[in-house]
Amino acid sequence: MEFDEVIFSRRSVRSFQDKEIPDIILSEMMEAARVSPSFQNKQCWRFIVVRNKNTIKELALKSGLVSKVNFFIKDAPVVVIACSDPQKSGTMNNQDYYLVDTTIAFQQMMLTAWNHGIGSCWLAAFNEKKVRDILGIPANIRVVALSPFGYPKEKKSIYEQTIKLISQCKKRDDITDIISFDKWDF
Ligand SMILES: Cc1cc2nc3c(=O)[nH]c(=O)nc-3n(C[C@H](O)[C@H](O)[C@H](O)COP(=O)(O)O)c2cc1C
Repeated sequence: MEFDEVIFSRRSVRSFQDKEIPDIILSEMMEAARVSPSFQNKQCWRFIVVRNKNTIKELALKSGLVSKVNFFIKDAPVVVIACSDPQKSGTMNNQDYYLVDTTIAFQQMMLTAWNHGIGSCWLAAFNEKKVRDILGIPANIRVVALSPFGYPKEKKSIYEQTIKLISQCKKRDDITDIISFDKWDF
């Protein structure tokens, strides 16, 4: 895809085909994260790539912050857990940059996947302790996000259609509401 097509066609994907992601594409996704910018180039991120179907099922059943909100990830061939070591990043102006570092890298991974027709969905509604327990993540490491990765199903599941309706996923603020020139003018 052209760069602007990647940016403007991207959407969250919540229903997946039963089709593996080729290793070469998976490697490219990881490389895209690896070369991301970070606070003092400290590269605090760590990514766990889960391909084991039993582990994916366990995450689908048990990782939800509330009930089984993440059940839809069960069909994804890959789930990536974006982790971060806050001690390896830094704080400036009272802002913790481990979240920023890891978010940039994960988004680069997601856009690279989308460039190959592979969908993902940033998930924040997870129970950190449960994710930690399932994957053996140590206490000093934060789980920033997780995402399924896979080829989108042509027909969206009822769950996906419902979430998209509730979240009004296509709605964005007007450009004039979010940009001002030369000074704060909102
Ligand atoms: C920080 C963040 C947290 C999110 N958490 C969830 C989540 O827990 N579950 C979910 O289904 N989608 C989640 N999303 C996806 C958003 O609902 C989605 O990006 C938004 O509705 C816009 O839709 P689009 O990504 O298709 O453009 C999250 C997105 C972001 C950036």
